[in-house]
Amino acid sequence: MIKINLGKNGPLVSKLGLGCMRMSSVWGGPVNNESESIATIQSALDSGINFLNTGDFYGAGHNELLIGKAIKGRRDDAFISVKFGAMRDNGQRLGLDLRPIAIKNFINYSLVRLGIDTIDLYQPCRLDNSVPLEDVIGTIADLIKEGKVRYLGVSEITADQLRQANSIHPVTALEIGYSLADRQIENGLLPTAKELGVGVVAFANTAEGLLTGEMKAPLPANAYQNQFPRFQGENLVKNLEKVEVLKEMAKDKGFTPTQLAIAWVNAQGDHIVPLVSMSRRSRLPENIQAMEIEFNSEEMNILNTNFASGSLLGGTYLQR
Ligand SMILES: NC(=O)c1ccc[n+]([C@@H]2O[C@H](COP(=O)([O-])OP(=O)(O)OC[C@H]3O[C@@H](n4cnc5c(N)ncnc54)[C@H](OP(=O)(O)O)[C@@H]3O)[C@@H](O)[C@H]2O)c1
Repeated sequence: MIKINLGKNGPLVSKLGLGCMRMSSVWGGPVNNESESIATIQSALDSGINFLNTGDFYGAGHNELLIGKAIKGRRDDAFISVKFGAMRDNGQRLGLDLRPIAIKNFINYSLVRLGIDTIDLYQPCRLDNSVPLEDVIGTIADLIKEGKVRYLGVSEITADQLRQANSIHPVTALEIGYSLADRQIENGLLPTAKELGVGVVAFANTAEGLLTGEMKAPLPANAYQNQFPRFQGENLVKNLEKVEVLKEMAKDKGFTPTQLAIAWVNAQGDHIVPLVSMSRRSRLPENIQAMEIEFNSEEMNILNTNFASGSLLGGTYLQR
C-alpha cells in the first residue's frame, strides 16, 4: 500500500483509508457483525492500510470501542482519525456541541474507548455559528499542546472556513464527501485545500452505494437511502441510467463499478486519500486493487462528461 504525507509535511498515511462508520449503527439500522468488523480492521492494518476513520458519535461510542479492540497490542500500526461534535439520538440528529468544555470532555471518553493516549487526527464533524471558530480550533490546538492530539483536521466546511481555521492553527486534513456523483467541492474547496497544503480525505466514493452498480429501483422500503431525493422515484431511475456508463466501462476494463468509483477519486490528486467503508474482509482485496487502476484520457473524459457536476437528480445529506 502506497503511503503519502497527509498535508504539507504531514504524517505518513496509507493512500487508501478505512472508514469504520458502517461497522456501527449510525442511521439507526442494525449493527454489523462485530467479530467480522474487528477482523476487517486487523486485515486492513496487515495490508498496510493504517488510516482508520471514526467519530465518537458512530454508534454512540461503539465504533471507537471496536477500533480499540482491533488495535490492542498494535497501536503503532494505526493512524486514528476521530470526529466529534455531533449529538444524536437513535440515529436522529439533535445538533452540534462544539463548546470548548464539551470538546475537552469528549476527548477523554474517546481516548478511554480507543484505549490510547493520543488521537492522531481530531476534528469537528461540522461547524455552525454557535461557537466562534477561534474557540473550536483553539481548543484542539490546546489538546495538541497537552499531547492528547497530534494533528488538527476539519470536516464538511467551506473554503472560507478552511482558510480561517488554517490561519488559527495549521490544518493537516480536510474530510469531505467527494465522488463522481458529488463534485461541488471542485469549484472552491478542493483548490483551496491544495493551495494551503491541506490533505483531502474523501469519503462517500460510492455515493451511498449508487455507484456500486448493485442498486435497483425502487430501493427496499427499509433502505436508509430512501430519505434522500436522489434515491426517490423517477430520480433514482434516471440516476441509475447514468451508472450504466460506469458499469459498461468497468466491464470493458475488467473491474467492478465500485473499483472505478474509488479509482476516479484516487486519480484526482496525490494529496487525496479515498476513505472507503468496508465492514467485511472480503471487500479489502477488491478495494485495494482499485488503487492501481488508471484511466486514459478518453475514459476520463467519458466519466467526467457523464457525471458532470449537477448531472445527477436529487441530493443527499452532502448537498451544500
Ligand atoms: N465527515 C463526514 O461527514 C462523513 C460522513 C459519512 C462518512 N464518513 C466517513 O467516510 C467513510 C466512508 O463513507 P461512506 O460509508 O458514506 O461511503 P462508502 O465508502 O461509499 O461506503 C458505502 C457502502 O459501500 C459499500 N462497499 C464498500 N466496498 C464495496 C465494494 N467493493 N462493492 C460493493 N459495495 C462496497 C460498503 O459496504 P459494507 O459496509 O457492507 O462493506 C458501504 O456500506 C465512513 O466509514 C466514515 O468513516 C464521514
